[in-house]
Amino acid sequence: MEHELQSLEREARQELAAITANSQLEEFRIRFLGRKGQFSTILRKLGSVSDEDRPRLGQLANTIKKEIEQLFEHRQEAIRQTASTAVDTEARLDLSLPGRVAEIGRLHPVTQIMQEICTIFENLGFSVAEGPDVEQDYYNFEALNIPAHHPARDMHDTFYVSDSILLRTHTSPMQARIMETRQPPLRVIAPGKVYRCDSDITHTPMFHQVEGFLVDKQVSFADLKGVLTVFTQKMFERDLPLRFRPSFFPFTEPSAEVDIACVICGGEGCRVCKKSGWLEILGSGMIDPEVFRMVGYDPEVYSGFAFGLGVERIAMLKYGIDDIRLYYENDQRFLSQF
Ligand code: PHE
Repeated sequence: MEHELQSLEREARQELAAITANSQLEEFRIRFLGRKGQFSTILRKLGSVSDEDRPRLGQLANTIKKEIEQLFEHRQEAIRQTASTAVDTEARLDLSLPGRVAEIGRLHPVTQIMQEICTIFENLGFSVAEGPDVEQDYYNFEALNIPAHHPARDMHDTFYVSDSILLRTHTSPMQARIMETRQPPLRVIAPGKVYRCDSDITHTPMFHQVEGFLVDKQVSFADLKGVLTVFTQKMFERDLPLRFRPSFFPFTEPSAEVDIACVICGGEGCRVCKKSGWLEILGSGMIDPEVFRMVGYDPEVYSGFAFGLGVERIAMLKYGIDDIRLYYENDQRFLSQF
């Protein structure tokens, strides 16, 4: 009987150690510790043991039973704990946690400024037109009085798709495209993306321009000055002095680059305006008679002005941003400020 008790103990210990679920625990309890379980069966046999052996065997049986009961309880506790940590991490819902705020998208600062520019000109009677980013060499250059091998092509750092197809380097091709299909009087602005093989803190390979042009009888340089003065006043919400600097573009004559008094220092001279007090914001001029001839307008009858402004540049000045590349890094912390 002593032998029987010892092997029962061994068996019980082994089984307990392998138990991982509550259902197995219950099964174990019935089989070993229950009223009809194996211990009870052995204890019942004590009656038929000699008087001499009974106390010793009885004691042994009880000790083993207690031990197994204790092990059983430990096992039960361990299983209960693993189950509750699983519930903690997976399914418990903490209603006191702060909610997650859903981020709402907004317009990119460049888009916002471009729309602002368009609105200002629309209020001056201009209509908006858009053209292709992938452009023919003809509209980007030829029709703008820049024939093949003209040195002005060098300034453009053009991305070519094929010999005659390229990514437009400016929005000026829209001048030729619109004039070719419509008759004066014309007041048009053409916003869009342009591409140049160039990259540093003031240049990105893709940037945005807004082209504007007006064609009618007796349009003069004074009209150009008037329109651009109103534009800068509205854009920068104050009376900024303008400066027209003689320049050259093959498709305008005379040509001028336009500077505004530095929005940072007001003309005193600072790091942004490189101590000059002025900031260049656009290229402009009176449309060259050669351009009119190519679209079939009579330059003796019609005259007009055109300008092209850089959107990123205006946004940088308006918001005081000193690195153009920030616009294209898609950093939420930057973009959410506008
Ligand atoms: N297209 C010129 C540029 O990209 C700007 C310009 C437009 C100049 C219209 C004159 C007239 O630099």
